[in-house]
Amino acid sequence: MNSADSATILGPILGIETSCDETAAAVLDAEGQVLSNIISSQQAVHERFGGVVPELASRAHIQNIDEVTGKALQEAGLGWRDLKAIAVTQGPGLAGALLVGLSYAKSTAYALGIPLVGVSHLEGHIASAWINRPDFPRNCVVLIASGGHTHLFHAEEKGGFHLMGRTIDDAAGEAFDKGAQMLGLGYPGGPLIDAAARKGHPTAVRFPRSRVRTGQFDFSFSGLKTALLYHLQSMSMEAITQQQADLAAAYQEAIVDVLVRQAFAAVERAGVSALAVVGGVSANSRLRARLADRAVKEGIELGVPALSYCTDNAAMIAAAGQRALLQGNVASFDCEAMPDCALPTWSGGGAVRRTS
Ligand code: KG4
Ligand code: ZN
Repeated sequence: MNSADSATILGPILGIETSCDETAAAVLDAEGQVLSNIISSQQAVHERFGGVVPELASRAHIQNIDEVTGKALQEAGLGWRDLKAIAVTQGPGLAGALLVGLSYAKSTAYALGIPLVGVSHLEGHIASAWINRPDFPRNCVVLIASGGHTHLFHAEEKGGFHLMGRTIDDAAGEAFDKGAQMLGLGYPGGPLIDAAARKGHPTAVRFPRSRVRTGQFDFSFSGLKTALLYHLQSMSMEAITQQQADLAAAYQEAIVDVLVRQAFAAVERAGVSALAVVGGVSANSRLRARLADRAVKEGIELGVPALSYCTDNAAMIAAAGQRALLQGNVASFDCEAMPDCALPTWSGGGAVRRTS
């Protein structure tokens, strides 16, 4: 479909994301350009608990959502009546948190008489790879590495997803978060390890790089976490503090090594020439550098989102919603939140097939 056709069908779309601890809203124009991307982080609410507290997350979403969507419209220079559709994260995520965004999206779409699109959060992350690069190949391998997921998909030209591998225990982002906690760096751990590691040596300690028997493209990070724990138990507090940067760099390197190894192996197996890496962990500077290096060496086209679209945001939800809408996937107003939903919601989940 050319852009003139899509402009007629789509018009501006509002995306809403409340699956975890960010209340986010964004507006995209008919061409998929981001007009606004507002994120209200709840980091201050959850920080002292060392993780997200579901009940507090729901409450904060309720408090923030009206202001966040209002800001998104204002920054886009649009009013409610200019919108042609509303896309919202339907799942996976925290049930109470999802319900806030979904109820808000349903009621506003209903009041405005415009279509509602339910989007899988994972599909949103996947769509983020195309926000700044609409010409990036659709036939590619996608690595999603976030706080809750580490999945490798072969994405097909027409929108089907073959699951090639996934973590059998912790997600990559979780490994970052738990590692940071053990290293005394704080929460959320990914950006803190990333920053600390810049001053350290990735070869200072050799942490394990797991291989999983269940599937060639699966991941496992729990052994790495335990290895860090044992390593720290063998050190004095003083030594840990002194060597914090080296430990962060070495631990990060172990996660990055596995992600890069598995992603490129999947590219080879899928027989494609493009790799998209998305999700919060794709913001990691070492991962981005290592992926870029390897992609150049192997002649693979690499797609990583701009930093503002790596961690949870609503621009990616609007982008996925726009694509869904183009394929005629409109949600009914009695659709429910899907805390455990697979991917994608709008193509019925049936498009996900395990290939390894
Ligand atoms: O995609 P996301 O915002 O939320 C989920 O869907 O889970 O991902 C959050 C995860 C957290 O675990 C966070 O520590 C990690 O992404 N993360 C990073 C970086 N920035 C965020 N991990 C490594 N390096 C970073 N720079
Ligand atoms: Zn996410």
